[in-house]
Amino acid sequence: MTIPPRKWWKDAIIYQIYPASFKDSNGDGVGDLNGILSELDYIHSIGVNTIWICPMYDSPQVDMGYDIRDYEKVYPPYGTNEDMERLIGEIHKRGMRVVLDLVVNHTSDQHAWFRESRSSKDNPKRDWYIWRPARYVDGKRVPPNNWLGNFGGSVWQWDDLTQEYYLHLFCPEQPDLNWENSATRQAIYKSAMEFWLERGVDGFRVDTVNMYSKGDMSDAPITDPGSEWQFAGYQYCNGPRMAEFLREMNEVLERYDAMTVGECPHTPDMERVLQYVSAKAKQLNMVFQFDVVDIGHGPYKFQTTPKNYTLPSFKRAIASTQSLLRRAPDAWTTVFLENHDQARSISRFTSDAPQHRVAGGKLLSLMMCALSGTLFLYQGQELGMINFPERWDMSEYKDIDSTNYYKMVAERSNNDPEALAAAKKSLQHLARDHARVPMSWADAPFNGFSPPESTSTPWMRPLEDAATCNARQQAGDKDSVLGFWKKMLALRRAHNDLFVHGEFDDLDVESEELFVFTKTWRGEKALVMCNFTDKVVQMEVPDVSKRELLVSSLGRGDEENLEAWEGRVYLLA
Ligand code: NOJ
Repeated sequence: MTIPPRKWWKDAIIYQIYPASFKDSNGDGVGDLNGILSELDYIHSIGVNTIWICPMYDSPQVDMGYDIRDYEKVYPPYGTNEDMERLIGEIHKRGMRVVLDLVVNHTSDQHAWFRESRSSKDNPKRDWYIWRPARYVDGKRVPPNNWLGNFGGSVWQWDDLTQEYYLHLFCPEQPDLNWENSATRQAIYKSAMEFWLERGVDGFRVDTVNMYSKGDMSDAPITDPGSEWQFAGYQYCNGPRMAEFLREMNEVLERYDAMTVGECPHTPDMERVLQYVSAKAKQLNMVFQFDVVDIGHGPYKFQTTPKNYTLPSFKRAIASTQSLLRRAPDAWTTVFLENHDQARSISRFTSDAPQHRVAGGKLLSLMMCALSGTLFLYQGQELGMINFPERWDMSEYKDIDSTNYYKMVAERSNNDPEALAAAKKSLQHLARDHARVPMSWADAPFNGFSPPESTSTPWMRPLEDAATCNARQQAGDKDSVLGFWKKMLALRRAHNDLFVHGEFDDLDVESEELFVFTKTWRGEKALVMCNFTDKVVQMEVPDVSKRELLVSSLGRGDEENLEAWEGRVYLLA
């Protein structure tokens, strides 16, 4: 029997770009495609081989491009379709691949399909979205169910013209497409997928992929008695037709040999995840689970206090996503700590205090590079960028998720200053905004994000620490966070089987200070030790005949203790 060659995406190292905040080439304060083009050599120099570009499609930007008006057109402030085709070509020329965001659970309410759908009850596209009549309780009109939307409030929006509600799991300007309708599905494949596959893209990150089949639309159980709207994620995710829809979608993707990584919220059950990512199921290549990035979230995400988690719970979450490879030999997993929906990992999982941030960034790099699965790195993570400071006021938060939450707290608490201060503290720790500030390119006007002569200020306030954390300085400094990422990615490639494909075992899950795990691949074994505290910790190396220090994140030798936030990898024999 011949063993089929490994799929390229298993060994890929994927760099994620958020177009609005990556690089502004024309001085309008918003990043653009030509900005990305101008930094391709920088991206390549990190050691990544694939680029994922967040939505660059035409959009009213209510949810930063995840509300798409036209799948086949680039958002004009980002550039033109020709710019995009040039960018795809230049990425390929450098031997890298390119993955786009596929956002087809919903469109913008300004998409031509929705405009038709909402125009009358007998429009041929009426059934392309999810319309329902009102319920009446004591003569009062109420939505069809009590589901809470992902950005707060009801998931239903009343439409005066046709006197019905439409479903929107995100904001009202993002109506959900009706995947039950086969004509809708075919239109999605053609416009959102084939259009770009024909132009050379190598795959998709598939937005909220497990929400296409909504399942049971009855009321969700009451988990927040103070609210009219209740969490319903377990009802609208992973519905009964998911496998069928994904297999059909996969038939199109297979024709182009395109890869997929699906975003898979509200699915802690690994057996359910396996059904999506086992190769023989022909659904998705891999998914982003939320086990790790949800660590420290409250029942409603921001209803929490900073660092409200223990190290064992963080390790268990990692072990759970790593376990996919053991559960089924044809399954695959991902490694990521950041993306455009998460605050910065140094601020969340290590320490962003000035004396610790570099060590924290290197520690997380070392840990991630030793874990199995496809590795994702988010812009600025390679520099050790951190959350913006507490002293910035609420006007710096631009994201609908953050502003809606703050409004909700204001309403529910009657503007109670303590409740508002707690909400802001939580946002300072967890808000998506922290990942969306302009990339710090240089110690220069606008941190080098916009050209120096630019008259418009960047759309989000640039960080104030660019003098100590910027790409230009770090590119020439092998001791920087960037220098360390380059080193770790090279080591990951050099020991590809062990680090990307090896079996993961946590040696001491209950330790509150250390994360110690091994990776095993056939005869090879690595021991990874990470000190997740800001003090020196004595280490206990398991009894082995021979150990060879492969790397210390702080460049130390084989001493018997780990410095604050130090990580090490040993090869064992
Ligand atoms: C997940 C995306 O990553 C997020 O940014 C967006 O707000 C929602 N899906 C809705 O598309």
